[in-house]
Amino acid sequence: MTDLFSSLSLGEIRLSNRIVMSSLTRNRAGEGNVPTDLMAEYYRQRATAGLILTEATPICPEGHGYPRTPGIHSPEQVEGWKKVTKSVHDAGGKIAVQLWHVGRISHPELQPGGILPVAPSAVRPSGQAVTYTGMHDYVTPRALEISEIPGLVSAYVRAAGNAMEAGFDGLEIHAGNGYLLDQFLRSSTNRRMDAYGGSIENRARLLLEVLDAVCAEAGSGRVGVRLSPVTTFNDIADEHPQETFEQVVDALNPMNLAFLDILQGTGGAPKEEWVPFDYERLRDIYKGKLILNNGYDFASATQAVKSGKADAIAFGRMMLANPDLVERFKKGAALNQPDYGRLYVGEEKGYTDYPFLQA
Ligand code: PHB
Repeated sequence: MTDLFSSLSLGEIRLSNRIVMSSLTRNRAGEGNVPTDLMAEYYRQRATAGLILTEATPICPEGHGYPRTPGIHSPEQVEGWKKVTKSVHDAGGKIAVQLWHVGRISHPELQPGGILPVAPSAVRPSGQAVTYTGMHDYVTPRALEISEIPGLVSAYVRAAGNAMEAGFDGLEIHAGNGYLLDQFLRSSTNRRMDAYGGSIENRARLLLEVLDAVCAEAGSGRVGVRLSPVTTFNDIADEHPQETFEQVVDALNPMNLAFLDILQGTGGAPKEEWVPFDYERLRDIYKGKLILNNGYDFASATQAVKSGKADAIAFGRMMLANPDLVERFKKGAALNQPDYGRLYVGEEKGYTDYPFLQA
């Protein structure tokens, strides 16, 4: 009988259980946005998860949109990530890096040389960027020229090469949560009139080009993708999400990716307020392995895996606060609660100091 504790192959990545650590931004990178020893310790503590998905990790300097997010574009960053992957592997775990470009969700203060952030179209997000000097209103981004697209794809390929050099078991292309690739996918942020805008096929073109190129670099059995069809996070929406994402997911089938990772729901809204979306339709259309995420507990996750609605479940808040979540689930033990005041600040506090079950 398949349950959360059953092993699973995601392409070339062999998981000892189906409890995945979701990607979580923690803003603890060091000088030069280099991964630190403290980050290696944080991930090592969580190595009993079947697979760790790292925090979102920018592929190039222009891909940054928050302070102290670790990149994977400089040699120093690759060296830092080598320590992270080694500590997780030494503890028997598997780890994939989430490759990120924030697009318009940035600010000149976070951009090299103070340039404007880029996006599919010059549409300013509502809200404020978090910068090193406090919160500032988002600016109107610069629309990417079509001639810049190949360079952008190359940045993903270089980051994928760096990920393999750093010893990751795989990588996840972040195409959700209102960041650059999602800005191309969804109609509220993509107003382009060229081959990368308009029809669903055109809006999905950049994502599919990135995935093709990254699979050629790292092997499709090590590449996954994250989508979040109805999140409104980062001021984004689609006119016809069901139609858009059914077509996108169908287009993924021939790529033989390691996995598809879907964030369900609508930003931080309670379940009752989620934009309606039929995830089981995506499950039917998609032929590969599916990870679902958002608001699962042990019972609902077990049910989702047993019933075949998902192959694995990703946990964010619970994994953050419970490094030994797998053991706690096994024993039916009580769970630590996340310290929400220290998600993005506090160095080791609220990061590597959550207690393990006593032996
Ligand atoms: C964040 O830094 O707030 C953040 C980053 C990546 C996500 C979601 C949230 O996918």
